[in-house]
Parts: sequence; structure tokens; C-alpha cells
Amino acid sequence: MSDGRFPDLRLRRLRRTAALRDLVAETRLGPSDFAYPLFVDDSGPSRQPIASMPGVERLTVAETVIEARQAADEGIRAVLLFGIPLTKDSRGSRADHPDGVIQRAVRALKTEVPDLVVITDVCLCEYTDHGHCGVLSGDQVENDRSLERLASQAASHAASGADIVAPSDMMDGRVGAIRAALDDGGHTETIILSYAAKYASSFYGPFREAADSTPAFGDRRGYQMDPRNADEALREVRLDLAEGADLVMIKPALPCLDIVRRVKDTFGVPLAAYQVSGEYAMIEAAGARGWIDAEAAHLEAAYAIRRAGADFIVTYAARRLARATAR
Ligand code: PBG
Repeated sequence: MSDGRFPDLRLRRLRRTAALRDLVAETRLGPSDFAYPLFVDDSGPSRQPIASMPGVERLTVAETVIEARQAADEGIRAVLLFGIPLTKDSRGSRADHPDGVIQRAVRALKTEVPDLVVITDVCLCEYTDHGHCGVLSGDQVENDRSLERLASQAASHAASGADIVAPSDMMDGRVGAIRAALDDGGHTETIILSYAAKYASSFYGPFREAADSTPAFGDRRGYQMDPRNADEALREVRLDLAEGADLVMIKPALPCLDIVRRVKDTFGVPLAAYQVSGEYAMIEAAGARGWIDAEAAHLEAAYAIRRAGADFIVTYAARRLARATAR
């Protein structure tokens, strides 16, 4: 392809007006490009702010329904639910309890806002008293025993009506174990969105405050991916697809745009990217100080993530972005 040369070619011609720029824009965003994460809290009052995530709150089941309905009215198609249980223990007993906070929230949402796609986070860290994503043996997270718990949690979410279960634990073999448990329970239509390449990231800090899931000791580097690696992310994705993942997700988003692009180019599968709590918090914090325009920065980040190849973006700014991109 030859582009010609200056002065015949002047790329600025197409940038002169907003109308021209809109006409030739390569990437477009709308409300359906965003999935909206919600923290459903079984313990608190109706709405509890999260200090490190301005504009985000922990919600009761009833408030979750209200928030989700407003998001749906703004064109958002999916919510991603995180649960904060009343009690925690070493095996995360509340994770697969039929009356757990997520199970009740899913049932309420599927009754009250039936068209909204309900995605549930499948992981033990919000439910264990030690804050790790699986069950422990000594100070190690034991992979294979964790699989049973995760599969049971996913089946329980599906039985409550979840459309999509999203394992974020990073245990080996969990997608296969979850698919088998879903099928055994007759949930053959339940979709698996695997957090296929999830990095051990410092950008999850605010989430751990929100979900009360900071590990009591150690860190998550024994199961989440090393940020120095990229080829390994492709192996993670390949494995999850082979085990039956319908959709895959990369996380965090802006620090992993190279991974998003490589996964899209290599596999051509439906792909999500998660703009995580710390990415959100950075933009909000700088915006609050007047150092950047937070709204514009959220939009720019979203365009970058879409440009890299993500089909949709999980973001705490989903509602604001939906309003900003609605036509
Ligand atoms: C659960 C989970 C985490 C996030 C999503 N699912 C926390 C973690 O792995 O420590 C992080 C999301 C965010 O930071 O917004 N394992």
C-alpha cells in the first residue's frame, strides 16, 4: 500500500472538523461495549462508598437491582457481580451456599431485569478468611482441591440463573472442572468467561478494599501471571479454550494492550478486557485534583482497549461511558 507524499497527501485534511473526524473514525463505542461490575454486600447498610474508588459503592441485593436497572436503561447489556458474604471461613463455605449473597442477587436480577446479562465472578478470595483464591494446604493454595470448590460455586451460580460464570482464580484446570460441573447439573447453556490471562497486578489494590479480600499472608504470585510474560498468556488462553471457555478475558487492561492484541489476532475468539480498580482509581484521583479530565481519560482508555482488539470492556466507569457514547 502506497500512501503518496506531502504535499499531495495531507493527513490533516480529514481532521479539520468534528463531522469529518466522526465520519472516518476507525473505532466506535456505545453502551453495549461495557460490562458493569457491582459489589453485592450481605452485611452493610444499603449503599457503602469505597474510599479508593470514588463513585463506586457496595450495594445490598435490593440496591443492586436498582443500580442494574438504571444501567440497563442506559443501554448497558451486562453486569459482573462480586459477593461480600456475611461470614468467611477457610474453605469459603458461603461461596456455593444456595442462599449466598450472589445466589440471591442473581435470582433477584433475573426476575426484575430479565434481559440484562448476569455474569458472576467465580473465585474464593472474597469468601475465605485467609483471602486466597483457593483452599490452603499449609501456606500453599492447593490447586486440585480448590477446583472442587470453584466448580461447586459456579454450578450454584448457574442454578440461581447466572447467564455467564467468570472464573478469576487462575487455578490450573478450573475451566474444565467448571464445564463438567455445569453440564452435570444440566446447565449446558451457561457460558464460561474465563479470566484466562490474569496478571498478579498491583492495580487490584482498591478492589481488595472493596471486596475485603486482601490475602492475610503472602501474595497471589503463586497462581496469577508474572507481568514479565506474554507468550505464557497465549498458553493460558489456549488451555482455557481447549477446556471449554466460550469467552476469554485479559486483566488488567491498559497494562496488557499487547496481550489483548495478540490474543485477538492469534485466536479470533470473543474477547473481554478488564479495566481494573487501580486503573479506574488512577484516573479518578488525577481527575479529582484537576490534573486530568477524568471523563476524557476514561473515554480515551476505552478506545485504546477496543482498538487493541477487545470486544467489550469491564469497567467501573461503565455507566458514565454509556451515557457519553450513547447516540
Ligand atoms: C478475584 C478478583 C480480583 C479482581 C477481580 N476478581 C482480585 C484479585 O485477584 O486480587 C480484581 C478486580 C479489580 O481490581 O478491579 N480474584
